[in-house]
Amino acid sequence: MKINFIDLQAQYLAYQPEIDREVLEVFSSAQFIGGEKLNKLENSLATYTGAKHAIGCSSGTDSLLLALMALDIGHGDEVITTPFTFIATAEVIALLGAKAVFVDIEDATYNIDATKIEAAITQRTKAIMPVSLYGQCADMDAINDIAKKHSLPVIEDACQSFGATYNSKKSCNLSTIGCTSFFPSKPLGAYGDGGAIFTSDDELAAKIRMLLNHGQNERYKHKYIGINGRLDAVQAAVLDVKLKHFDKELTSRDEIGSRYSDLLEDSNVITPKISATNTSVYAQYSVRVKDRESLVAKLSAKDIPTAVHYPVPLHLQEAFKSLGYQRGDFPVSEEISEQIMSLPMSPFLTELQQDYIADAIKGN
Ligand SMILES: Cc1ncc(COP(=O)(O)O)c(C=O)c1O
Repeated sequence: MKINFIDLQAQYLAYQPEIDREVLEVFSSAQFIGGEKLNKLENSLATYTGAKHAIGCSSGTDSLLLALMALDIGHGDEVITTPFTFIATAEVIALLGAKAVFVDIEDATYNIDATKIEAAITQRTKAIMPVSLYGQCADMDAINDIAKKHSLPVIEDACQSFGATYNSKKSCNLSTIGCTSFFPSKPLGAYGDGGAIFTSDDELAAKIRMLLNHGQNERYKHKYIGINGRLDAVQAAVLDVKLKHFDKELTSRDEIGSRYSDLLEDSNVITPKISATNTSVYAQYSVRVKDRESLVAKLSAKDIPTAVHYPVPLHLQEAFKSLGYQRGDFPVSEEISEQIMSLPMSPFLTELQQDYIADAIKGN
C-alpha cells in the first residue's frame, strides 16, 4: 500500500480547477507582489481568526522575527519560550541578539508548562512566546494572566496551530501577536514559503507592515530597519482557495486523529491528549513509544513513512551551546524528544490506510 506522510498531491487534485484559475489570474495580471490577491487573503484570514489585522509575510520564521522586531526586542533582552519546538522559535530570538530562556513542557500536551513560567521571569524579560505544538494551543489563559501581571506581551507561535481553537477562540487571535506558517506541509499550506502575523493592536499592525517592507512608511522613506518579508501574490491566491475548503479539511483531520486514537487504544504507544479547552488541527499526529527505533524500523519495513518532531530539544542543540544549558535541565522535554514520533497525517488519509498503519503498530 502506498502511503504519503502528507498527501499534498491528493489535495491539489481536489481543488485543481480553482487553484489553476486563481494562479493564472496572477500570471496574466503581472501583479506578483502585493495587490488584490494579497488584500483578499488578508481579509479572509482576519475574518477567519477574528483578529483585527492579518498581515501576510514570507514565512513562519519571518512572522516570529517581525513580531519580536515590532516589540523592539534586542540585545540584552530575554524571551521565555519552550525548548521542545522547531528551532525557528528560538532562532529568531538569538538573531536579534536577545536570549531565549527555556521553560519545560507539560507531560500531557507537550506545550510550555504555564505553572513554571513565573519563576523564569527577570528584569530583562521582554516577552513570553508559547508554541501551540502539533496543532493544539498552549494554555493561553494561564499564560496571558502571568503576562498581564508582569506587563509583558505574549507572542503565540501558532505555526502548527492555524485553525485550532482554545475556549472556542481561534489560535492566532489569543494574545498580543499570533504568528503562523504556511509552509506547504502545514494544515493550511502554500505552494512555497509563506506566513502571517495577527494582532488587534493598530500600532503594532502598522509597524509590522512597515518592517516587512524594509521599514518603509512610504516609497523610499524608511522609518525602521526592516526586512524583505513580503508574501507574494501567487501564494496568496493559492491560500485563499485553500482557506475556503479549510474547515472541511479540519473536520477530516479531527475524525482521522480521533480514529487513530481509538485504533491505537490497546497498543504500546501513548496517543495525543487534547485538553478540554482545545480542538486540535493535528498538524502532526504524534505518539510516544519507549522503543522508537524499532517501531520506526517495523513501520518502514511496511512502507509506512514516519518522522520525529523533534529528536533533540533546543537547549541541547549545538547552536544554543552558548546559553549554557545542560542535559537534565528540562527533563520532560528530554524524555518526550526520545520517545515521540509522528504518523502519516492528512485530510486525505483513507480508513484503509489508517487500518494498515494501526495494524502495523500493533504488530498484526
Ligand atoms: C513551531 C514552529 N515555529 C516556526 C516555524 C517556522 O515556519 P517556516 O518554516 O514557515 O519558516 C515552524 C515551521 O516548521 C514551526 O513548526
